[in-house]
Amino acid sequence: MSYARIGALKSVEQFREHLATLGLELPCDDAPLSADEGSPLAAPFEVGAFTVGNRWCIHPMEGWDGTADGQPTEHTLRRWRNFGLSGAKLIWGGEAFAVQQDGRANPNQLYYRPENETGIDELLQTLISSHEQQFGPNSSRDLLVGLQLTHSGRYSRPTRKDRAEPRIAYHHPLLDRRVGIAPDDDSRVWTDGDIRQLIDRYVVAAQLADRLGFQFVDVKSCHGYLGHEFLSAFTRPGPYGGDFEGRTKFLRDIVTGIRAECPRLMIGVRLSLYDFPPFRPREIENGKPGVGVPEDWERDYPGFGCNRDNPLELDLAEPIRLMEMLHRDNGVALFNLSAGSPYYNPHMQRPAFYPPSDGYQPPEDPLVGCVRQVQAVRDVKQRLPHVPVVGTSYTYFQEFLPHVAQAVVRAGWVDSVGIGRLVLSDWELPAKTLAGADYRADKKLCRTFSDCTTAPRNGMISGCYPLDEHYKDLPEFERLKEVKAGLRGK
Ligand SMILES: Cc1cc2nc3c(=O)[nH]c(=O)nc-3n(C[C@H](O)[C@H](O)[C@H](O)COP(=O)(O)O)c2cc1C
Ligand code: SF4
Repeated sequence: MSYARIGALKSVEQFREHLATLGLELPCDDAPLSADEGSPLAAPFEVGAFTVGNRWCIHPMEGWDGTADGQPTEHTLRRWRNFGLSGAKLIWGGEAFAVQQDGRANPNQLYYRPENETGIDELLQTLISSHEQQFGPNSSRDLLVGLQLTHSGRYSRPTRKDRAEPRIAYHHPLLDRRVGIAPDDDSRVWTDGDIRQLIDRYVVAAQLADRLGFQFVDVKSCHGYLGHEFLSAFTRPGPYGGDFEGRTKFLRDIVTGIRAECPRLMIGVRLSLYDFPPFRPREIENGKPGVGVPEDWERDYPGFGCNRDNPLELDLAEPIRLMEMLHRDNGVALFNLSAGSPYYNPHMQRPAFYPPSDGYQPPEDPLVGCVRQVQAVRDVKQRLPHVPVVGTSYTYFQEFLPHVAQAVVRAGWVDSVGIGRLVLSDWELPAKTLAGADYRADKKLCRTFSDCTTAPRNGMISGCYPLDEHYKDLPEFERLKEVKAGLRGK
């Protein structure tokens, strides 16, 4: 299956025509505007009592490059420095920070232990000082920085890259097989008692963030990790599963605990707004993993934000109810909306032209997946106009990202536009756009080659190997080429 490459579309008219061919409705301006020309992306917005300086956000982007005991390395520090240089005024989480050792998604993820406090402080200070060096001594006054708290749950690999050590909220008929859990192996399922202890660990990690000067923490509830999994724990008995109240209790208890211990700290939630069933590649086609197809889902597919009778359809009723409740009753100040999971339906979470090594050929034009996310966020904003929301899945718009970003912000579809993969290849794009500079001249736009996902899937640090010179000098660059050649050989 082949789709038009965005880079091959020579003008914004061609991009719009392409959207129309796909039947997609998406606002898109004729040309990017600078801050001086009144770009909507330069306008501040309120999050609680804080005024965020502009509408660009940097999503959390992990590098699989911490030390074995969870401290940052030079690669981690460089990434956070680049986040500060980006010009974005909202830094959502930096990267996933496990609240305890067994919650790491890989043995190089940062995690909470008292000895790691200095390292996390260094990350924050590096980010703030790079921002101030680039944009002026007082420029961090309107810079909002959070730390993303997580437990990787089903996708925990805390000790070895090649050993899954899953801890699950419930047995999932399709996903258990993928991480080697037997349907009757309850040793992997969290007990209610263990859950209560884990909630305390989130609070301890939030206290660290508060002490160090992060303005908010994100209670991560997306991408198939534990916080997301609880939201679909329909079959889990007891207080943390079953009905809506039960399935959202884990998240609500963490938020309540953090509010009690850290009253000044704001709380955000990064939420997978909807899910799809797991996809797998159809058999190998032309030497490549085939097109993605959904697994045969059971009648009662346990997804959050999708129609339970046909989980390939969205149903946003519960996610909107959850957001409204968290904002109104629990004081959650802001949301970052994503979708699905990079482990079992990557084409909807991070649409790409070239799939990662454990992926499949896109079953739809990647633009369809991007616009699905952008429109779902619009639907949320229509229902909850007063709730600050960051949107995801903009990297794939490439040349036309600034055109789309300023148009959707102006139209009130979203408050802040988040960038993920793009920040690895072209971290200064927000600053360049706001300054009215040609953001295409240095040819650093992310082309969704997926090497930043393929590398960690094969045990290497993540980064933009094709476009960031920093990674070209590392031994991992050659290894990655060998891995990709090996895949082609297969
Ligand atoms: C290398 C890599 C690391 C990521 N790390 C995180 C993370 O730590 N936390 C998180 O919530 N999402 C993480 N994501 C997902 C991104 O934040 C983002 O949702 C995704 O890339 C889609 O946005 P984009 O289209 O702008 O890339 C990661 C994605 C990639 C490719
Ligand atoms: S490796 Fe670079 S170009 Fe490829 S998807 Fe990642 S950031 Fe984009």
